[in-house]
Order: sequence, then structure tokens, then C-alpha cells
Amino acid sequence: EKSGYKHFMAKEIAEQPTVLGEAVDHYISKDGKGVSFAAEGLDFTQFDRITMVACGTAFYACLTAKYWFEQLARLPVEVDIASEFRYREPPVAPRTLAIFVSQSGETADTLAALRYMEGKAAKILSVVNVPESSIARESDVALPILAGIEVGVASTKAFTCQLNVLALLALNAAHARGEISDAALGDHLAALRNLPGLMNHALGASDTIEALSRELAKAQDILFLGRGAMYPIALEGALKLKEISYIHAEGYASGELKHGPIALIDENVPVIVMAPRDALFDKTVSNMQEVMARGGKVLLITDAEGAKQAGDDVWRSVILPEIPDLLAPILYAIPAQLLAYHTAVAKGTDVDQPRNLAKSVTVE
Ligand code: F6R
Repeated sequence: EKSGYKHFMAKEIAEQPTVLGEAVDHYISKDGKGVSFAAEGLDFTQFDRITMVACGTAFYACLTAKYWFEQLARLPVEVDIASEFRYREPPVAPRTLAIFVSQSGETADTLAALRYMEGKAAKILSVVNVPESSIARESDVALPILAGIEVGVASTKAFTCQLNVLALLALNAAHARGEISDAALGDHLAALRNLPGLMNHALGASDTIEALSRELAKAQDILFLGRGAMYPIALEGALKLKEISYIHAEGYASGELKHGPIALIDENVPVIVMAPRDALFDKTVSNMQEVMARGGKVLLITDAEGAKQAGDDVWRSVILPEIPDLLAPILYAIPAQLLAYHTAVAKGTDVDQPRNLAKSVTVE
């Protein structure tokens, strides 16, 4: 079943270009120029705002999508953790689209949050991997992420396939609301169809990441930094690392470092900087330099030109292909997963069945 891989997690990481490519083809029109959810009854001109609710990795997919919906479609988005949202009993404005993201579709807190939104939100949309799940059945619209069965407890391919569907929704919303032209939509969709090839390149960094993970495995604390839509990917990288390698890790928005966490930096704390060459690259580089000036060991994840601009003082680099800004979070999720995987293997932990964790959290 593991098809020659040592762990389900390794197999599921490697599968991503294939499953994501199939999911892209499923959702994009035959001519490759459009994306529509009209058949599912979703019309983004009917909504004034979006509330997204999920847990864990699915929550980080929602945090990423907030940047997309707000930047592309100019729709305000609120994102919350299901266990907080449900007990907070927040007021819900009319014309709110509620989006629930869940791989299993059975997470108790997410299901309870969905039930709270029934009769309050204008529409309830779920983004799930299991179409016959409770969350899918109780939604007005359920969109499958088409990742295929995910066995490893640490979510990998489900995360990138969740991001794919959320990116398509944001593009559809932006187009329907007149925020982007036909041509711009076509360009974004062409980039999305190109993404599986770039993901294959990113998987090619596995050997480099394996070698440096043997050193990361000695660390007690590791920080992940990112800005903009890379901030949720920093959070996801930290979650993935702690859940399977048991190394304490935290993700921070790069700009938040100087407000406290920089006190943690010394030569024993590796700092992993997720820095595609986007509009915020220079700002991230200057945060990185603050870390290096305090003796921090920086692992920089960027493209070839980014590595050149960052200079020679970084401890290690992982080089990814150049990527349009919109899709960087999906591509950069791969090295984050590989870092967690190889570090856990180096430590000898049970990668597919980490202690204390269950694949589907059906208790509150
Ligand atoms: C982390 C992980 C969890 C899940 C969370 C939500 O790798 O897998 O954080 O993302 O338990 O699960 P679903 O998506 O099934 O609602």
C-alpha cells in the first residue's frame, strides 16, 4: 500500500503533483480559461463577507485563503478555530458565506461550528476530502478536494489540495465580482495548471532537506518565519514539525519577531525563513538579518535569485523554482512537509502514527 515508500507520509507528500494536477483539471473549464461554481449554486456577488472555520492544518489553509479572498476578490474574511468559534457564539452578518474546511469531514468542533451557522449564514460551504462525511452532508454545498485517501496522521496532500480549491474559489469570486479581468483569470489558471511541474521540482529538494534535517534533529526549539500568505505556511511548518518529530517549533509572522520572540534567538535555535521573491521579500530579508546579527542559524527557503540577494551568511538554503505570488504558499508547503518528515525520520519517531494523535478528532 505504501508503494515502495517507507511511510505513508512520504508517499502522500510525493503524490501531491499528481493529485493536485487532477484536481485542477477537475475544476477548470475544458478550454482552461474559466472556473465556475454555478452548478453548485455558488454566486459570489451574493456575499458581502466570508467566515472560515476549521482546526489544525485545515485552519492554516483558511488563514492562507484569507489573503487570497481579500487581495483578489476584495471580500473581507474572518478566520477562526472551530473550538473557539462555536463557544464564542459570534453575531453573523447577513450575506455571510460560511466556509468549513476539513479533511475528514468529521471533526467534532468544526461540525458543531457548522451547526451554529445553520440559519444564520447566507450559505454554508464545506471543503472536504470525504464527500460522504457529516460536514459534507450538512452543508449547502460541499466541494471535494480530491486528494484521495490520506493515511498518515500528519496532513500533507490534503493541505495542498485544500489550498487548491480555496485558490479556485478566490479566483472565481474575484472574477464574478469584477475585480479581475478574463485575461487575468486566464493567467492565474494557466499558472495553476503549471504548478504540478513546479511541485515536482520542489520534491527534488528532498535529498538536500534530508541532509540538513539530520542537523535540525539535534535542536530543541525551531522557529519558522513568513510574511503575508507565507505566514500561515510558517505556522503549518511548525505544526508539522512538532507533531511528528516532537521538537518544539513555533511559526511567527516575520514582522512580529522583534516584539518578543527574538529574545529566543541564539546559535542553538535554527530559524527557518520561508521567503519566495514576492513584494515582501526585502522586508523578510531584513528580518532574517536581524536573526543572523544575534547569532541565529538561518535556513532560507527561496528561489535562486532570492538566495543570491540574501548573501552568504545564511546557514543553509533550499532553492525552489520561481513561482507566481498567488501560488507560493502551495509550493512552499512541500519543503515544510519534507523538513518535518526527514527530521522525524532522523529522530526515529513514528512518522505515520505520532504519539497522542488521531487521524480524525471526533471528540471535543
Ligand atoms: C495536522 C493535522 C490536524 C488536522 C485537524 C483537522 O497535520 O492533520 O491538525 O488538520 O485535526 O482535521 P480535519 O481536517 O479532518 O477536520
